[in-house]
Amino acid sequence: MTGNRPTADKTDDRPTADVSDDRPSTSVAGARLTAQGLTLAYEDRVVVEDLDVEIPDGKVTVIVGPNACGKSTLLRALGRLLKPRKGAVLLDGADLARIPTRRIAQVVGLLPQTPVAPEGITVADLVARGRMPHQKWWQQWSETDEAHVAEAMERTSIIDLAERQVDELSGGQRQRVWIAMALAQDTDLLLLDEPTTYLDIAHQVEVLDLIRQLNHARGRTVVAVLHDLNQAARYADHLIAMRAGKIVAQGPPADTVTAELVKEVFGLAAVVVPDPVTGDPLVVPGLPRPVERRGGT
Ligand SMILES: Nc1ncnc2c1ncn2[C@@H]1O[C@H](COP(=O)(O)OP(=O)(O)OP(=O)(O)O)[C@@H](O)[C@H]1O
Ligand SMILES: [Mg+2]
Repeated sequence: MTGNRPTADKTDDRPTADVSDDRPSTSVAGARLTAQGLTLAYEDRVVVEDLDVEIPDGKVTVIVGPNACGKSTLLRALGRLLKPRKGAVLLDGADLARIPTRRIAQVVGLLPQTPVAPEGITVADLVARGRMPHQKWWQQWSETDEAHVAEAMERTSIIDLAERQVDELSGGQRQRVWIAMALAQDTDLLLLDEPTTYLDIAHQVEVLDLIRQLNHARGRTVVAVLHDLNQAARYADHLIAMRAGKIVAQGPPADTVTAELVKEVFGLAAVVVPDPVTGDPLVVPGLPRPVERRGGT
């Protein structure tokens, strides 16, 4: 790839503190990222109130729930894009609010639901921005950075788009560029808000397989918001179902995805059967038709 690489953000070049500083750890074993007593609000609108959550390490957690129930709000708080009104998000036991932004960005990557690219930026340069948290003032672009960017672009099949401008791509192409940027950041925790939006079915499966691969091969902890309950059931190790700002069920999909849950969370009548391919729960909307009686009485 060619072109100037972005330089490290000087304004955020503060000394980095160890996340697990000398304060006592309050995090639960097996969960680096947790939240306690979390209240999240936009001015007068309280979206999430007094919520506790633990994100299991090394697992794929999928958050599901109806529109406007607070999924993105929760994810943004977990990635420190939104400051809690009350309570705290803890990373390795330390309040996220007290960890330097740059250090958080080395550990937690967040792909928001509707990210906005700088005008006129090329694909290669946008993906390269994922490396910013790792750059040092004395070395702004290294071979390691180059390798991470190349790998992220290859895994998301966007190498052919490298020199195109992001704002002239299709929705699906653009979504894969954002995913590449999040991958290039190379963080232990990855928060993805609807990563399959805009993608055709083949690219959806490609991205979800990629998430699973990152998780299995590299032990990454992933939290993704998905709307497709069947994809959620297939790809999640841990499912969190939300409604009206609250967690109404959580656990392995086999235990949580039931007709009762679909009714409770989405108000939708559905039948849950085993997926004929994987055996995972498969949600089929609608109720079975009554069996028609043949012949006379
Ligand atoms: N920036 C904002 N300012 C004010 N209210 C907001 C803002 N962002 C979200 N909200 C409100 O917070 C509530 C939760 O929104 P959120 O985006 O978290 O929902 P969601 O579960 O991610 O929904 P979707 O499935 O549609 O993405 C909604 O009522 C929404 O209108
Ligand atoms: Mg959302």
